Amino acid sequence: MKRVLFVSYSQTGQLAEVVRSVAAPLVASPSVEVVFETLEPIEPYPFPWPFLRFFNTFPETVYGMPRPLNPLRVGAGEPFDLIVLAYQVWFLSPSQPMAAFLQTPEAVRLLRGRPVITLIACRNMWLMAQETVKRGLQALGAHLIDNVVLTDRAHSAATFISTPLWMLTGRRGPFLGGVVPAAGIDAADIADARRFGAAIEAGLPALDAASPQALLKGLGAVRVNERLIASERTGYRSFRLWGRLLLFLGQPSSLLRRIVLCFYIVFLVTMILTVAPVSAVIKRFVAPWMRERIARQRAYFAAPSGETDEARGFPAHG
Ligand SMILES: Cc1cc2nc3c(=O)[nH]c(=O)nc-3n(C[C@H](O)[C@H](O)[C@H](O)COP(=O)(O)O)c2cc1C
Repeated sequence: MKRVLFVSYSQTGQLAEVVRSVAAPLVASPSVEVVFETLEPIEPYPFPWPFLRFFNTFPETVYGMPRPLNPLRVGAGEPFDLIVLAYQVWFLSPSQPMAAFLQTPEAVRLLRGRPVITLIACRNMWLMAQETVKRGLQALGAHLIDNVVLTDRAHSAATFISTPLWMLTGRRGPFLGGVVPAAGIDAADIADARRFGAAIEAGLPALDAASPQALLKGLGAVRVNERLIASERTGYRSFRLWGRLLLFLGQPSSLLRRIVLCFYIVFLVTMILTVAPVSAVIKRFVAPWMRERIARQRAYFAAPSGETDEARGFPAHG
């Protein structure tokens, strides 16, 4: 009997649905025992988010200073053959509940020397967050064997509006009579994520704990949007810089911190609306000279599962 642990947290239920879809073939298998650990912050995060609290969460999120969790239900000494860490991205970083989990002493005991699959469901910017998680897993001595990412199919410009609206109002949309499409991951993509569970079930018997290999190659587990690589790097640097200043100004409740935060929000939105489109045009223009570099970056971020989708042709999702 193989044992698989899913660790997750979800505010709207989106990631919970993704987890259920991936886990279904394993739950149905007589040779696999599946354990679900749902992370519970001691002080729950609000949903929908009040405007200022939403943005005021970014310094602690980006600096890996999450709110602590209630004790886990799973015993830290329990051995698992595979652990699936399902997380969403908050401010180009792993969400606070997943960051908190990775800092617990239980995570050390559960993950050290174990094969791990990360499963991400977010708007579309996950590259920097996964870099943070990769570093965390390496420090814990875990083996990251696969990464699966589900993102919103709508255009980046549309999700830039629909995702915050969803987070701040609790409504998915569509908004403005359909001009802005509904936020979130397509139901068909969530249902389709079942194929990852089926591949995990098929590969589990041969999974060697000492040198585990990827189980999800050729399934279109990730798709790297090369146009977002530079934006993510710039955004992450900006969050680190301003995050440090805001942390220096005090607790989230500090008046001075909230005033500076309001200034930063205006600055950030202005930059995104002005600099980002100009740099997108420049990037498109220089793309022919950057092909090799971009291909290298894509391969790096797509690892370990890769972008190849044997069933649908390459790249995944067209
Ligand atoms: C505070 C906050 C920050 C977010 N930042 C990002 C982000 O940087 N990149 C991204 O792709 N999605 C971002 N999202 C969207 C989430 O990744 C996720 O899609 C959404 O919260 C729904 O997840 P859940 O209901 O399963 O928790 C953010 C959401 C929240 C609440």
